[in-house]
Amino acid sequence: MKDKSILLGVTGGIAAYKSAVLCRQFIRAGARVQVVMSEAACEFISPLTLETLSGQPALVQMFNRNRSGVPHIEVADAADLFVIAPATADFLARTAVGRASDLISAVTLAYRGPVLAAPAMNTNMWEHPATRRNLETLRTTCDWRFVAPGSGDLACGWTGPGRMAEPIEIFEAAEAMLEGDLCGRTVLVTAGPTVEDIDPVRFISNRSSGRMGYAIANMAAQRGATVVLVTGPTALSPPQVSELVQVRSALEMRAAVMDRVKDCDAVIMVAAVADYRPEKMSEHKLKKGPGEKERAIKLVRNPDILEELSKLPNTKQQPVRVGFALETEHLATAAREKLKMKKAHIIVANLATSGFGGTDTEALIIDDAGREEPTGSLSKTSLANRLLDLLIARDWQAD
Ligand code: CTP
Repeated sequence: MKDKSILLGVTGGIAAYKSAVLCRQFIRAGARVQVVMSEAACEFISPLTLETLSGQPALVQMFNRNRSGVPHIEVADAADLFVIAPATADFLARTAVGRASDLISAVTLAYRGPVLAAPAMNTNMWEHPATRRNLETLRTTCDWRFVAPGSGDLACGWTGPGRMAEPIEIFEAAEAMLEGDLCGRTVLVTAGPTVEDIDPVRFISNRSSGRMGYAIANMAAQRGATVVLVTGPTALSPPQVSELVQVRSALEMRAAVMDRVKDCDAVIMVAAVADYRPEKMSEHKLKKGPGEKERAIKLVRNPDILEELSKLPNTKQQPVRVGFALETEHLATAAREKLKMKKAHIIVANLATSGFGGTDTEALIIDDAGREEPTGSLSKTSLANRLLDLLIARDWQAD
């Protein structure tokens, strides 16, 4: 953060008061901060507050005859990172269509570097399809990163998602974007179980908690990667990632992975994907027949997502494919077989006794160069970091 130039954009929502704390955090960390505010933001926080904290005049007006130069281009060119907190629904909408109707949107349009936005708005506005679409546009076409809002009591009296993330979360995400050793990398992680429906009330699933996958997604994001987390249903609150995709069945997970794999440096398949699904899901709840003693449900094989990834058309950059194997016996043999069968580059194998649901885990990591590393007992976070270190050590090479 030291000597980095942060452009801090503040738009007009009640969360604007938190931007003062964020500004202070950047300054304390040694960054230079240039504040640019929308006029609406000035209704919520005085420019003087941010000027005093940043030591620089806060820019609000597009036209100022007492000033020389072209400020919206100058500040856009000078910044290492543009952080917009809060980013209102209206600001996101204007930006998604490329408007430059006031100073802050003109700066946004002129800026070419990395952007981190912390949306804040009422729950209904956050969930509105137009807002979802605008976020998607900015994320996919402009590479924006978001610090997702938290859930809780909102100033408007509602309770739900929409409250701006805390300044410390935004600060840490900004720090990772500037300094993390995974900066510039995109990692797709799958997590949790898949759920295969039998009828509207019954399903087949497994006991995966999702904790290992979430730990990897979290650490990768904290180390600066762009993280796509494709997750089956879990009871956990998801980490701050660039894209969260919630799926249910193996087929949905496969579609989500295949849609997003193109630009990934690594795909880490931690999900406990169901190997089989009912041949067909009954539209109505299945009833037992009179005197029926047995019921057979025909299951059919699900596609193997990890294996399918090895058959992707040959593009310039193939992602490193990492599989997880949960076993109850013969750990090393099963891991070697899975590495070969699924043409993975790395397999992380652990025993069900140490892996499922617990906090610590003991794994064996094997790779396509024949290396085998027993990790000893580690927290899931440490195992996540160990795996990410291995991806760096192999320089993200798939072959
Ligand atoms: N996997 C997958 N698609 C499936 C099944 C598994 O992508 N349909 C991935 C998992 O995400 C994991 C790896 O393959 O990374 C190993 O999963 P595991 O369930 O241990 O292996 P299986 O191939 O299902 O073998 P088995 O259940 O017979 O041990």
